Amino acid sequence: MSSSNDIRATFLGYFARNGHQIVESSPLVPRNDPTLMFANSGMVQFKNVFTGLEHRPYSRATTAQKCVRAGGKHNDLDNVGYTARHHTFFEMLGNFSFGDYFKEQAIAYAWELLTKDFALPKERLLVTVFSEDEEAAAHWRKIAGLPDSKIIRIPTDDNFWRMGDTGPCGPCSEIFYDHGEGIPGGPPGSADADGDRFIEIWNLVFMQFLEEPKGVRHPLPRPSIDTGMGLERFAAILQGKHDNYDTDTFRAIILESAHLTGQEPDGRFRASHRVVADHLRAGAFLIADGVLPSNEGRGYVLRRILRRAMRHAHMMGAAEPLLHRLFPVLERQMAAAYPELSRAAALIAETLKLEETRFRSLLERGLHLLEAEKGKLGDGEALPGEVAFRLYDTYGFPLDLTQDALRAEGRAVDVAGFEAAMAEQRRRARAAWAGSGEAATESLWFDLKEKLGATEFLGYSTERAEGAIAAIVADGASVDSASQGREVAVILNQTPFYGESGGQVGDAGVIRAGEAVIRVRDTQKKLGDLFVHLGVVEHGDIRVGMPVVAEVDHARRGAIRAHHSATHLLHEALRRRLGAHVAQKGSLVAPDRLRFDVSQPTPMTPEDLAWVEAEVNARIRENAEVTTRLMTPEAAVAEGAMALFGEKYGEEVRVVAMGRDEAATARGGHYSIELCGGTHVRRTGDIGLFRLIGEGAVSAGVRRVEAVTGAAALAVVEEEARLLREAAAALKASPAELPARIAALIEERRKLERELAETRRKLATGGAAAEVETLGGLRVALRELGEVPARDLKGLAEAILKSGSADVAALVSTEGGKASIVVGVGEAARGRADAVALVRAAAAAVGGKGGGGRPDMAQAGGPEAAKAAEALAAVRAVLAG
Ligand code: ALA
Repeated sequence: MSSSNDIRATFLGYFARNGHQIVESSPLVPRNDPTLMFANSGMVQFKNVFTGLEHRPYSRATTAQKCVRAGGKHNDLDNVGYTARHHTFFEMLGNFSFGDYFKEQAIAYAWELLTKDFALPKERLLVTVFSEDEEAAAHWRKIAGLPDSKIIRIPTDDNFWRMGDTGPCGPCSEIFYDHGEGIPGGPPGSADADGDRFIEIWNLVFMQFLEEPKGVRHPLPRPSIDTGMGLERFAAILQGKHDNYDTDTFRAIILESAHLTGQEPDGRFRASHRVVADHLRAGAFLIADGVLPSNEGRGYVLRRILRRAMRHAHMMGAAEPLLHRLFPVLERQMAAAYPELSRAAALIAETLKLEETRFRSLLERGLHLLEAEKGKLGDGEALPGEVAFRLYDTYGFPLDLTQDALRAEGRAVDVAGFEAAMAEQRRRARAAWAGSGEAATESLWFDLKEKLGATEFLGYSTERAEGAIAAIVADGASVDSASQGREVAVILNQTPFYGESGGQVGDAGVIRAGEAVIRVRDTQKKLGDLFVHLGVVEHGDIRVGMPVVAEVDHARRGAIRAHHSATHLLHEALRRRLGAHVAQKGSLVAPDRLRFDVSQPTPMTPEDLAWVEAEVNARIRENAEVTTRLMTPEAAVAEGAMALFGEKYGEEVRVVAMGRDEAATARGGHYSIELCGGTHVRRTGDIGLFRLIGEGAVSAGVRRVEAVTGAAALAVVEEEARLLREAAAALKASPAELPARIAALIEERRKLERELAETRRKLATGGAAAEVETLGGLRVALRELGEVPARDLKGLAEAILKSGSADVAALVSTEGGKASIVVGVGEAARGRADAVALVRAAAAAVGGKGGGGRPDMAQAGGPEAAKAAEALAAVRAVLAG
């Protein structure tokens, strides 16, 4: 028996021998195509090669491509489990020619591989061609020797293949396998073609056109080939089975599911085992490619798939979450061909377990409600849409889960009623918002949110992605187009731009739509998850619907990531230094700095700051991995994650961990672990360098720390070094000598100041210049002291009086261009002279008013320093009587 792994290898090997490059499967999430939800066939990754936009070093390729058909144009979800050949996830084997060989060679390769390498009997094979494609029919006659009865012409779209509503397309020819008369069913094109006797195994598409919106078709530059063979159904044929779920890969999972649930693999729960096996594959591969369960976009498709499987696991009586326990079997089967399953094994198992754990309690209660509501319905009556909506809204039942649950008894759901209930809920939400007084400014965003739904954010895994313009807002109104120079707010269906939140600033960058360029300076989030790019149309015209390439300013985002990750390290370092009372009170993460407010009653000491800075830098040098996982808020807090201040969380939270600390067992051995929706570096070493640049008070009990990282930190260091060099040059010393030199200078200056004060004192109290006049019987010292500091005057007056050389001292300083006057009256002159009266007289002479003090010592001043001598003359006049 050929295993699925053998079949894949034989297929790829055959085409490799025939000059084809073996190319790896592209991820399930197409990064190069905004119109597609998931890769749904092998040609998706080559779309631009077919159209001539992209060139590769080979013109022939072969792949085993991961595909998901659930949501979007090709959606098989509803049927999975109940039929032999429907899957949400499958592998497509294919060979491709990019303007190299065409129809004839493609048919020849297919025929040889099927009949020789895989040794299928020719009698069992027949083909279809598009009814207008006589050329293909002729090749089949010649190459395979098929009679006309086995070359069936199909006039419908069945033989015209399209990737989606737009993209490369062309007529196709399908190869069928006849399981023989024992199985009911007719050949393709016949009335009972839907029977199981004739099974399509390989589709050869003759790529000739590029389809644009509205059905406009252009010829491709060169005719090409795209083929697709579903591995699962082909394996069934080669393994002598009639049902894909009986092939090796599925059987292994189904047997394990039977073992773990105690339910016969082919008994009452046959369909449930199949649902579980199929959905496990889709779930695991989607998670491996970066999709996580959510309530929007791709994440919601994943959630629908998983919850559908989880209901079946529950029906089978699985007492514990089941899917993550089945994953190891899938990994054993498929990881050799798809190593991403092993690389992401922990994430896959954890995500499956988390989703199932959370959903189980809701599921039980929801099913209970469903039972009760069913009891109220008549035979065959559809479930009211309002009930389906309640199940959706309160218990997290995707609509298709409810439909699936009713399927066995042939009961439907009133889908129109469900939609109406959903619309009514939106209306209520809006009315509640209008009541909050922000309606005028926000109603535009409400309209857009209702019309467009949430924006899918791709920016955790990429900084460049394709998308399409979903809306343009200019001057407060939604418009269809905008031209050069216009300020606009642009919404895309998906974006790598981070919208400002959680303290992290919004991304800037460029959005290109053909020739047109929008320079984005900021990205904001409206109503939670509508991403709005703010900027200006720098070049050309933009229109709603245009495909675009959105590219974040990488250097800026890199710097933002470094500051964000550094903020987490800083937070933990502060807690370790200052204590567990430290909690985040606010934060700003920008490309050039970070600001972090924490609850902390007292200022941090220089030692605290030095310790924290050294600690953060040590963690950076550790270059530890930074990991992000999704968890329930409870699980995250149980792991010791620090909740962020003022954030609102959805059902899941992102948990960012960095660094190791084996002692921190309460926190899973992580150095830092926080709930955070921001973007981060991959390893702490990417932060580069961390410098604290400020610490201060914000409000009572809250301190603010400011810091820089990476290039910004280096710039700070360089600036400091420059200042140091300049200071050293000014002192003609080396930087290392600076501290000693400065200390010496300060000491020298103190000494000089002391000497100067002493000299002045001597000058004022005695020496050659000191003269004493006798006025009204009192010995009076009248002195003009020039630039002597005014604050010294009092001490000098006291010194003169104390020396006994005068009974009254009147001193004037002209320091700073003003006249300052002090008058002192000694013991002997008390009662005969009044310092306050004297100083007032002096002040009046220099344009001053008033003066104050006591009768023995008073001071005053005036603006006219030039009249200092007149101030002394005024004193003299008063004393002389
Ligand atoms: N792209 C073609 C298909 O998916 C081969 O059937």
